[in-house]
Amino acid sequence: MLKVGFVGWRGMVGSVLMQRMVQENDFADMEPQFFTTSQTGGAAPKVGKDSPALKDARNIAELSKMDAIVSCQGGDYTSEIFPQLRSSGWNGHWIDAASTLRMEKDAVVILDPVNMHVIKDALSQGGKNWIGGNCTVSLMLMALNGLFKADLVEWATSMTYQAASGAGAQNMRELISQMGVIHASAANLLADPATAILEIDKTVADTIRSSELPTSNFGVPLAGSLIPWIDKDLGNGQSKEEWKGGVETNKILGREANPIVIDGLCVRIGAMRCHSQALTLKLRQDVPLDEINQMLAEANQWAKVIPNEREVSMRELTPAAVTGTLTTPVGRLRKLAMGGEYLSAFTVGDQLLWGAAEPLRRMLRILVE
Ligand code: HSE
Repeated sequence: MLKVGFVGWRGMVGSVLMQRMVQENDFADMEPQFFTTSQTGGAAPKVGKDSPALKDARNIAELSKMDAIVSCQGGDYTSEIFPQLRSSGWNGHWIDAASTLRMEKDAVVILDPVNMHVIKDALSQGGKNWIGGNCTVSLMLMALNGLFKADLVEWATSMTYQAASGAGAQNMRELISQMGVIHASAANLLADPATAILEIDKTVADTIRSSELPTSNFGVPLAGSLIPWIDKDLGNGQSKEEWKGGVETNKILGREANPIVIDGLCVRIGAMRCHSQALTLKLRQDVPLDEINQMLAEANQWAKVIPNEREVSMRELTPAAVTGTLTTPVGRLRKLAMGGEYLSAFTVGDQLLWGAAEPLRRMLRILVE
């Protein structure tokens, strides 16, 4: 049985991974060993299968006993430990949620419903490094898989509406705290139906701009506002998150030599854990909408086409509807006024599931089977 080491299983992505693996009974087919950076010797988590006491996540000799290691511990851990492990001669499978190794030549960005062929090719050539993709990219590809499969996309631009979870657990807490402070500042005024709306609005605006609002994680208000920049400034007007859209999409699809141009603008909004994206796609041909709908719906079991109608879009194509589920709905599909080759689309997906944990557990299954 495959001996699998888990590092960073207690954090947000790690916890979602554990939940999903328990739900899918994944542990039945492997021998888990949990590692820790702080509680060596402590009891292993309850995952429906006994496993030995926690081992030190910095002990290269112990890590080296594993056939595969899954890390949700973050980029600093990967940077510190991965090179030591490989230079010690360890030749196991490294499955990682962090972005550190993503663009390395010998790393495959894993999203098997979209790029099983890339994964299988790499496996047959002895590939050992399997890295989860950027959440926005993975969610876009899950929803629009059908169009990429048919090689119909000439270029695409994505305008994102990214949830707080992408920034981390503390940021999710901060968003809710901001909402609470804002509500508290206006609660008395709200309770009185006679209060003029502009008075309520002024109180809210003053609170959002005041030092009362907790902003130590985001740096600025998010509740009642938005943040039009995600990740580092690359110095060319593009954010790192926007850069990832292009390079990672092409790496996932295995078409770095013949890339599709993908670019856009990434924005943080006050959703909890679902990233949404509004896309404009330039197709290589003027394909009828009903054929597009069919391609999208048939591409994988998670991409659900939502008819481009008001009621159903409002009900089903939202973070509120999608959060906590594996569905990656795609809707608002219509040909734009620019012509029959220009398609609009809107997608929503859970950033912690298909955006982070799900591709990792599925990679383990591929190794086990
Ligand atoms: N970079 C993403 C975000 C999350 O900030 O939303 C991880 O892929």
